[in-house]
Amino acid sequence: MMELRDTYGRTFKTLRVSLLTTCNLGCVYCTMGDPTINADKKAQTPATVFLDQVAKLHAQLNLQTIRFTGGEPLLYRELPAVLEGVSKLGIPEIKMTTNAFLLDRMAPMLKEAGLQSLNVSLDAVDEEVFYLMSKREKVEKVLKGIDSAIACGLEVKLNSVILKGLNDNQILPLLDFAFQRDIPIRFLEVMAMGHLHNQGMKYMFPQEKILETIATKYNFTRQLRAPSATANYWRTSEGKMFGIVANESEPFCQDCNRLRLDAQGNIYGCLSNNNPVSIKNVVAREELTQKLQEAMDQKQKVRFTGSELSMLHIGG
Ligand code: 5AD
Repeated sequence: MMELRDTYGRTFKTLRVSLLTTCNLGCVYCTMGDPTINADKKAQTPATVFLDQVAKLHAQLNLQTIRFTGGEPLLYRELPAVLEGVSKLGIPEIKMTTNAFLLDRMAPMLKEAGLQSLNVSLDAVDEEVFYLMSKREKVEKVLKGIDSAIACGLEVKLNSVILKGLNDNQILPLLDFAFQRDIPIRFLEVMAMGHLHNQGMKYMFPQEKILETIATKYNFTRQLRAPSATANYWRTSEGKMFGIVANESEPFCQDCNRLRLDAQGNIYGCLSNNNPVSIKNVVAREELTQKLQEAMDQKQKVRFTGSELSMLHIGG
């Protein structure tokens, strides 16, 4: 198979799929609780359409990983069918990013349908701060969901976006929550997407500050970065791991292997790019190669440059 590769040697090995564009939380860095965003809740792209597109992409790219991501995948009605379908396609790693609000009752189904690994977005363990960040009450639903997923044998990691002045007081409580369960946690620098595009870095709480906060309680040493990884990792003297996804402080575009597919059948080679490349009606292999090349050309050389799209549309 001829491998698609750009001049920096980058390939597409991880596909991130946005199954729908609605969410049951309204996080400050994403939709900010804007009620108009969930207006098209009823209309969902059928599972057969996704499976057809994923099959086309996999045939050409020999994907290593597929990740279902934002909008909230647990709101997608045909989720079991999609998961079972991609299991049959033989993509080795099947993962999901979720806010875990509905996870408690859904975890067994996910495991059954072939899901292996879950990244749970959790920006606070304290109820008031959770509300401040997500505009939703009942963080305990999320915490319960996390424990159910662990109990089902799913691999669970936590993702925490840290916003200056809003939830930076949650870094240590989140870390301890993860350490108690022996699950990895990654803190994320905020990205200037959606309504934060052009708002500069008003909420930026950088890697350096995150490390300073953790250093008040733990000793740690930096680990080597794995190829194409988004996170930098540290190990504490007790042997616990934590990571930081430092989009701004230490951009990781140079070996990015991600391709994104949205619910309208568009692909994107980069989060910084708003120009959808439609593969909806593409059948011929040559035409698909050309579309993939277009998406590949969207990749930035060095760093994320901001986008008007929020993760709700394009996935994390
Ligand atoms: N900056 C950083 N992370 C974000 N996410 C969503 N929007 C942003 C943003 N603007 C995260 C979510 C979730 C994943 C899909 O991406 O919290 O973990």
